[in-house]
Amino acid sequence: MKKIALLSSGGDAPGMNAAIRAIVRRGINKGLSVQGIQRGFAGLLNGNGFIDFEMGSVADIIHRGGTILLTAREQGMFDAAFRKKAVKRLKEEGIEGLVVIGGDGSFQGANALGELGIKVIGIPGTIDNDINGTEQTIGFDTAVNTILDAVNRLRDTATSHERIFILEVMGRKTGYLALSAGLAGGAESILVPEIEFDIDEVCDRLMRGIERLKAHSIILVAEGAADVFKLNGEIKKRIKAEVRVTVLGHIQRGGSPSAVDRLMGSRMGAMAVDLLLEGKSGYFTGVVDGEIVPVLLDLCINGNKIFPDELYKLALDLAR
Ligand code: F6P
Repeated sequence: MKKIALLSSGGDAPGMNAAIRAIVRRGINKGLSVQGIQRGFAGLLNGNGFIDFEMGSVADIIHRGGTILLTAREQGMFDAAFRKKAVKRLKEEGIEGLVVIGGDGSFQGANALGELGIKVIGIPGTIDNDINGTEQTIGFDTAVNTILDAVNRLRDTATSHERIFILEVMGRKTGYLALSAGLAGGAESILVPEIEFDIDEVCDRLMRGIERLKAHSIILVAEGAADVFKLNGEIKKRIKAEVRVTVLGHIQRGGSPSAVDRLMGSRMGAMAVDLLLEGKSGYFTGVVDGEIVPVLLDLCINGNKIFPDELYKLALDLAR
């Protein structure tokens, strides 16, 4: 193998730049030419996203959030004709291996290209931490810390006014961000799409807190679990208390990556190049039992991550 390329795709995540730096530098150190493809699969399909990388191209990026390669959500990869065009383009460039940094949708695109003869390796990059086959994804740790910072700030004002705060966090159809930030932040209630909730039970928990003179309560809501504004109305119908709603939004996606995400990005990026050089394809770099190992892309594409119910129970138990 003489030439590889890399792209980032889907929602950006802090730590992607650490992975990009590692892929470029490991690749060049091993004698490879390394090309970046801007705007994810869109740049590949349009053919206008290709850039050459040198050692210096990735200087001064390890501490930056986002992705210097830019990203996009490109649906074209789900079309067979587009995929053929993409592989033709990669072959014309002499690219034999492709590293795709992104979430499960990006992995589906990568896998489909792999079936057409390009060697592909995935790196899990999404704040949602919803990829089956890996305990953690790049960006998750930073996002959890960003949410915790918001929880701490809300606590100050919530305590001062003796209010209840509803905080909506991201996670698409999953509740990993809400659960981790809720447990680490001591939220009184955590609502996730994976576990059905009962509004009366949520209010009972709030009432128990009020009865033992708790100055405030935080309800952490995953975006896929409930409409926070309707929830606000339902709570106000049942409890005589002041409730405020905060939607944290894309603030969760930005910011300087945590040490955990930089380490994971660096190690996964280097491993992705090594796997390509070993002739491997159809894998992604996953965290299994705390170790970074190659995991079949198929596991992510055809399986759903199992939600840690025990951790959820623990979070509620400790916030009682
Ligand atoms: O997948 C990452 C994520 O931030 C989700 O948590 C969220 O639902 C989605 O992306 C938002 O997407 P967009 O940035 O396209 O609005």
